[in-house]
Amino acid sequence: MNCLEERIAKDGVVKEGNVLKVDSFLNHCMDVSLFKEMGAEWKKRFAGKNINKILTIEASGIGIASVVALEFNVPVVFAKKNKSINIDGDMYVTEVESFTHKNKNQVIVSKRFLNSDDHVLIIDDFLANGCALQGLISIVGQAGATVEGIGIAIEKGFQSGGQIIRNLGYQLESLAIVDSMDAATGTITFREQ
Ligand code: G4P
Repeated sequence: MNCLEERIAKDGVVKEGNVLKVDSFLNHCMDVSLFKEMGAEWKKRFAGKNINKILTIEASGIGIASVVALEFNVPVVFAKKNKSINIDGDMYVTEVESFTHKNKNQVIVSKRFLNSDDHVLIIDDFLANGCALQGLISIVGQAGATVEGIGIAIEKGFQSGGQIIRNLGYQLESLAIVDSMDAATGTITFREQ
């Protein structure tokens, strides 16, 4: 087991509805030493890739991506979930549907912070159905930039996102892939990697 899998096994809580609660170390209270170890692991997995920018999405991706960016020594851009309807031409815009929250968000990135010279590593905390990730990939595409790889902390392997993204040909590196979980017993089964 890697550091993240160990931590999920110790502190993750399985909730009804296939929700894994990891707020005590990942997405509410943040264990930045763990994030540093995760960054080192992604650095190994993406060795040889020419990465000059990290892209993530608010809110929970930002903390992880910031610590990981220190490892790669590159800036982080985070896509904003837009609150206003007025969008000027200075933004890349895409729509992200949240399967979990049953809502849609317009997601924006300023054109000033992403362009065709960029080689991007996308980082996020969860991959479930892949809607957020597809939105981020669309934004990189609009900028004419290159997706060098995708680093996910926790992939829910029993939902469709991972397969969709791998089938598109991207190098997707999820540090923990949960193949099944049981709210009644608290059991979490990880995919062998
Ligand atoms: P998708 O982007 O892969 O399609 O996932 P989905 O719509 O199902 O997820 C919506 C939100 O719920 C995402 O956060 C995602 O990180 C989170 N999520 C999905 N499954 C789980 C889970 O098992 N446990 C936890 N804790 N979160 C989960 P978001 O809407 O972007 O919100 P934010 O928290 O980043 O602001």
